[in-house]
Amino acid sequence: MTITSEIELTAQLKWRYACKAFDPTQKLTSEQWTMLAESLHLSPSSYGLQPWKFLVVQTTELRRELRLASWNQGQVEDCSHFVVFTTLKTMSEDYVNHYIQQIATVRNVDVSTLEGYRQMILGSLVNGDRSSTIQHWAQRQAYIAMGTLLTTAAYLKVDTCPLEGISAQDYDRILGLETSNYGTVAAVALGFRSADDKYQHAPKVRFDINEVIEYQ
Ligand SMILES: Cc1cc2nc3c(=O)[nH]c(=O)nc-3n(C[C@H](O)[C@H](O)[C@H](O)COP(=O)(O)O)c2cc1C
Repeated sequence: MTITSEIELTAQLKWRYACKAFDPTQKLTSEQWTMLAESLHLSPSSYGLQPWKFLVVQTTELRRELRLASWNQGQVEDCSHFVVFTTLKTMSEDYVNHYIQQIATVRNVDVSTLEGYRQMILGSLVNGDRSSTIQHWAQRQAYIAMGTLLTTAAYLKVDTCPLEGISAQDYDRILGLETSNYGTVAAVALGFRSADDKYQHAPKVRFDINEVIEYQ
């Protein structure tokens, strides 16, 4: 990375803010959305298990219902793309096998060579100490993807607002997830800021860098 692009990246991280008011007339180009979708797709996760589904909610009706389940936050309706982050409720041996098969296919190796890795994952997440808190584990993975998406969007000069001010229970009902193995964690609205959003001019509130980064 050149010095110039380092400076640009930091400038874009400063430019990003949690957008409170989107301009509803401005939409992402398909190229922008493709890069953003790819940033979700490329996000890392523990063991590489990708315990998530990202739901892109497109219809006006669903967006209206979700807004009501989001403390009436206008970003849900006014943004260009609205992504709901959902994660696995349980981790099954079948899911792990599906992943192991994917590794074998992509890397062109025999599935038997991955048996040790498969057993390691099963021993931890399916039958081991983490199995009772698998939902929390999966949700933590989703936040990595959220961070990747926010940073990529900032780099592309696309505005975002992460949303935890939502009722996950209502989202699950509205999106028909109650009987599925995925549950809502949070959401991200993407689009372009309205010129009227006063928050874009507010200075960033952060603790002193020495308070949050400690060298030992
Ligand atoms: C996981 C998460 C959930 C958030 N939920 C909301 C939300 O529901 N509504 C909102 O307006 N902002 C929300 N925010 C934005 C934060 O309030 C904001 O990121 C923080 O105050 C720092 O400000 P900045 O992002 O503008 O730098 C959320 C941020 C994160 C990371």
